[in-house]
Amino acid sequence: MDVATPTSDLVVIGLGYVGLPLAHQATRAGLTVTGLEASPAVAAGLNAGRSHVDDLDSADIAEMVEGGFTATTDASVIADTRSVVICVPTPLSEEGGPDLGAVAAAGRAIAAHLAPGTLVVLESTTYPGTTEEVLRPLLEESGLVAGSDFHLAFSPERIDPGNATFGVANTPKVVGGMTERCGEAAAALYRRFVDTVVQARGTREAEMAKLLENTYRHVNIALVNEMAIFCQELGVDLWDSIACAATKPFGFQAFYPGPGVGGHCIPIDPNYLSYKVKTLGYPFRFVELAQEINARMPSYVLQRALELLNDSGLALSRSRVLLLGVTYKPDIADQRESPARPVARKLAEKGATLTYHDPHVEEWSLNGHTLPRATDLEQAMAEADLTILLTDHSAYTPKLLTEHARLLLDTRGVLRRLPAGAVHEDGHTTAPIAREGAVVL
Ligand SMILES: NC(=O)c1ccc[n+]([C@@H]2O[C@H](COP(=O)([O-])OP(=O)(O)OC[C@H]3O[C@@H](n4cnc5c(N)ncnc54)[C@H](O)[C@@H]3O)[C@@H](O)[C@H]2O)c1
Repeated sequence: MDVATPTSDLVVIGLGYVGLPLAHQATRAGLTVTGLEASPAVAAGLNAGRSHVDDLDSADIAEMVEGGFTATTDASVIADTRSVVICVPTPLSEEGGPDLGAVAAAGRAIAAHLAPGTLVVLESTTYPGTTEEVLRPLLEESGLVAGSDFHLAFSPERIDPGNATFGVANTPKVVGGMTERCGEAAAALYRRFVDTVVQARGTREAEMAKLLENTYRHVNIALVNEMAIFCQELGVDLWDSIACAATKPFGFQAFYPGPGVGGHCIPIDPNYLSYKVKTLGYPFRFVELAQEINARMPSYVLQRALELLNDSGLALSRSRVLLLGVTYKPDIADQRESPARPVARKLAEKGATLTYHDPHVEEWSLNGHTLPRATDLEQAMAEADLTILLTDHSAYTPKLLTEHARLLLDTRGVLRRLPAGAVHEDGHTTAPIAREGAVVL
């Protein structure tokens, strides 16, 4: 390959939850990194040292800028780099299928500036075949041929927003190249700032690895959600059963029931896989079943809320309901696909008067109306007829909840779950609920 003299090591396209931490880690490791962003506001904010994602604060951005990182909206930076990593969104289209619009736009932008010898890696989650069937032809519009004039690979992003233990550097990175040499080139890039790099046989295997990880979670969450519903009717304490099963040191991983699945990955990625399977003429039944069960959980939360109020002689239509936590997972601000929204909508449809509390969300609207935000948590719980815990932010401790909520529906098992390996003073692996009027999903 004819390699020019690039001025940067890496261009990261798309500076969101995935691209920004990647650019941060690469810059820290001493690479010269440029961020290419479609949003001028995001690019300008970063250049001014402001972060817009949970896992990095402004000090991290300042450190990046000091380390030579710059953000731009000008795609010509691609002409002068050794490698390009694409981290743009892959949402669902209105029909529920893959929307690869941003990937295609990034591919065209790269093709317009692609220099021989460049490595191009796709990180956005997508169905198997995308790198070679969708991205490759777009890149080859440059006149260069993948595998001989430039390297092409897929490497799934595994970022877990809010995870204080595992980040870009210490989460093993899977890479799959279009050819052996493409895979080697991608592995060599990531080895510069990730501790462990794992080579897949090809791009499709790497694409499937990501979908397998997320489908596994999706299906197992659906399993415990379905069990939660019938265990309640059977009079079985599922939280205790899960905690007991989790003491098995092999062959079992604990998943917990909840109000539904949220975030950018679990509710969306399996659709990419079922879309691909459908092209074969049959459905991916596990995914469709899991989707059906998980999508029904907000209705189950509504049912439990109605029952809890009814047992106290109250009607939902005349009740004040406080929602605790509206993000899709604890201790972050990301609200994408949060099940709090369908739960709130169902409660509002039944006439409940809603208030919410979330330390990470200053404004939250439903059907175009801003919901009142409680700032004094203890007072808000004392005033609400019913408090529903939807996201287990660490601020919501069992003590606080049981002391202040009049009626409490805990959809995350905060009142029951003990830290891994802990045993309650009564010798059990779950904590008992020590008061009337508090229930767990
Ligand atoms: N957020 C997660 O937890 C997570 C985890 C694993 C994988 N992923 C996957 O990573 C990909 C990116 O997700 P994200 O959460 O970082 O998205 P995001 O919305 O946080 O960020 C994407 C960024 O890309 C920019 N962008 C869009 N089109 C662009 C273009 N053509 N050129 C340049 N910039 C463009 C957007 O303005 C935005 O800033 C998705 O495929 C997602 O499924 C996300």
